[in-house]
Amino acid sequence: MTQKEKKLWGGRFQEKASSILERIGESVSFDHKLYKEDIQGSIAHARMLQKIGILTKEELSQIETSLSLIRTELEEGKLEFKSELEDIHMHIESRLTELIGETGKKLHTARSRNDQVTQDVRLFILNQGKEILRSIFNLRNSLYEKAKLSLDVIIPGYTHLQVAQPIRASQYLLSWFWALERDQEFIRFALQSSSELALGSGAMAGVNYPTDREFLKKELGLSKISHNSMDGVASRDHILQFLFAASQLMIHASRICEDIILYSSQEFGILKLPDSLTTGSSIMPQKKNPDIAELIRGKSGRVIGNLNHILVMLKGLPSTYNRDLQEDKLALFDSIETVQISLEGIQAMIEGWIWVPERAEASLKNGFATATDLADYLVNEKKIPFRTAHELVGTLVGICVEQKKTLFDLSESDRISVSEHFAGKEYEDAVSLSLSADKKISYGGTSRKRQEEQLKIALESLKEAEKWLL
Ligand code: ARG
Repeated sequence: MTQKEKKLWGGRFQEKASSILERIGESVSFDHKLYKEDIQGSIAHARMLQKIGILTKEELSQIETSLSLIRTELEEGKLEFKSELEDIHMHIESRLTELIGETGKKLHTARSRNDQVTQDVRLFILNQGKEILRSIFNLRNSLYEKAKLSLDVIIPGYTHLQVAQPIRASQYLLSWFWALERDQEFIRFALQSSSELALGSGAMAGVNYPTDREFLKKELGLSKISHNSMDGVASRDHILQFLFAASQLMIHASRICEDIILYSSQEFGILKLPDSLTTGSSIMPQKKNPDIAELIRGKSGRVIGNLNHILVMLKGLPSTYNRDLQEDKLALFDSIETVQISLEGIQAMIEGWIWVPERAEASLKNGFATATDLADYLVNEKKIPFRTAHELVGTLVGICVEQKKTLFDLSESDRISVSEHFAGKEYEDAVSLSLSADKKISYGGTSRKRQEEQLKIALESLKEAEKWLL
């Protein structure tokens, strides 16, 4: 075996690595994404080594300058990836040694790739998580703005996918605004767990040097230090938490998309997507398909799968670092990219769609959406017990169905045949679509007053969230 064929860890090895080992073992094809964090971690580590007297000032300065140069080389695609160098950590270290010789070889003092890689990933989650928080913020902001414009649009609310009650379209939009606030909180929680220093744990038992971990924590802007070196290298809880948050978010994203797909269909027709966000068919000239929404619904399955991947991968692992853990990045990177593009896609659709109030009204009428209001009128104004009121209105709806009519065009005599209270203006007000929403006066309800109140609270929540973006 020539010197060139020797690995950075190859001291004890007599034979050169087989091709299958190299192909199965390499991770640089995906973990190159960690290059910025790896260099950030290495610079902090080098500064610490200088502080405790392992590197001279001169050596530190050489290392820092060369690491910055390597970062530029990587950004410009000038560093060739070789599977024999396994991962991004080895690529950077070997390039460093190429540039500055013996000094480069000192960088890995008091460090193992085990603490190095988990630190890189934690930093990566922190950096990318902040971008995701920004995208969630932007989407929530769009929901808020659209809700303001949709205050007076009345659409059907559904349960069991059957018309239930009239709601203000703002109510619908803000329902997702609040779901996304919870997602934002879960992401923030994952960021807090990631803000932990693992570096200094070494391979798993700690290191034989007076490593200054407090200094490293400050250098990397982290908020805590892992208390146990074994836990430091072994834990992937921050990844799990992040992937759970991403999955919850994608479940919300997928449900929003399912609504968009349904509501923009010919059968529902209560909203229209702009042409620029839809596709045609190569055979059916009339088609206008909601592909973005379908794709996001599809992608949500992958993100949930990624969480499952890590859960299953971790469940039987013996204590501390095992090479299986190299696979964790695939799930993480894929989920981050998928969440980002999905958030953007939903935002574009929300900003672009227009409501179709005529279709909403037709659906509300045909769906007897104010039947509950009529029962409530009997309770409130005529002091009839709710269960009896329910029965009377149910009978009325039954007659409508039989005569193929709505609550609005059934004759007064047919109405009175069910109850004397179903006469005149009082009845009309009780079933009115336009008045219905404003009868929902409970906190969080769909009346205009409550919606205005909701918008104010939403704005406060946005202002609070904005603080986390700085
Ligand atoms: N590429 C490896 C990973 O992602 C780095 C750590 C390797 N450690 C080791 N002892 N082989 O997990």
